[in-house]
Amino acid sequence: MTAHQHTPQHDHPAEHLSPTEYWEQRYSGREPIWSGKVNETMASVVRDFAPGASLDLGCGEGGDVLWLAEQGWQAHGLDISATAVGRAREAAAARGLGSATFTATDLSAWEPEPRSADLVTASFFQSTVALDRTAILRRAASALRPGGHLVVTSHAAPSSWAPDHPARMVSIDEELEQLARPVEDWTVVTAEERPRPALDPEGHAGEHLDAVLVLRRREAAGARVSA
Ligand SMILES: C[S@@+](CC[C@H](N)C(=O)[O-])C[C@H]1O[C@@H](n2cnc3c(N)ncnc32)[C@H](O)[C@@H]1O
Repeated sequence: MTAHQHTPQHDHPAEHLSPTEYWEQRYSGREPIWSGKVNETMASVVRDFAPGASLDLGCGEGGDVLWLAEQGWQAHGLDISATAVGRAREAAAARGLGSATFTATDLSAWEPEPRSADLVTASFFQSTVALDRTAILRRAASALRPGGHLVVTSHAAPSSWAPDHPARMVSIDEELEQLARPVEDWTVVTAEERPRPALDPEGHAGEHLDAVLVLRRREAAGARVSA
C-alpha cells in the first residue's frame, strides 16, 4: 500500500470466519498493521481540492482520514474493524484532530446520507474474504454532491516480487466499467494504472501497480432534466 512502511504478512483466508471476524483477527495484535501515514497516491490527487466533507471507506487505522482532517476536511472514516477504528480515534485525539471522526460498521449494510459528501475515498478497499466492493463504492459515490470527487486507489496486480496476492486485484478497465456508470453522471478525471516503487521484504527494489480512478460528479440528473 502507498506510504505503508511495512508489508503485513497475509494469512491464508480463514473461510469459516465472517468478514468482521477476519478483519478483527488481522487487527488483533498489539501493534498497528499499517504505517499510519497517508497513502501518497490519494494525497497527490486530493491536495488540489477545496476542503469539504469527506468519507473514507475501509479506513483501517485512519492514516488517510487524519491527513484529510489536517488539510481542513471534515473527514469521516468507516471500517468494519472496531479495533482499527479505536486506533484511528486514539490517533485523532492524540493529534487534536476533532474534525477526524470514525464509525465502526460493515459497509455492506450501510446507507450514506444523500448529498452529504464532497469527496469519497477508498484506498486499497480490497479483501481476502467476502466484500461487495462495487455495490459499496457505488452507494457511497451516490452520496457525492455535484462537483464532488470519488478517488479510488487499488491494487491492480500483486507486488513485483510476489507470485500472487490474497485479495482480488482490479484493473482500471474494470473500475471504469463498474464505477463510472451511468456515464452521463461522471467526468473521468483520471483512469490509469501507475507503478509505485517499493522495497521487497529483503530490501531489494521492486514495485506495486496501482489502479487510480478519479471521477467528478456532474450536476444532478434532476437539474439536467429541468434545465
Ligand atoms: C487493505 S485494508 C486498507 C486500509 C486503509 N484504507 C489503508 O490504505 O491503510 C482494507 C480495509 O477494509 C476494511 N473492510 C473490509 N471489508 C469491509 C466492510 N465490509 N466494511 C467496512 N470495512 C471493510 C478492512 O477492515 C480494512 O481495514
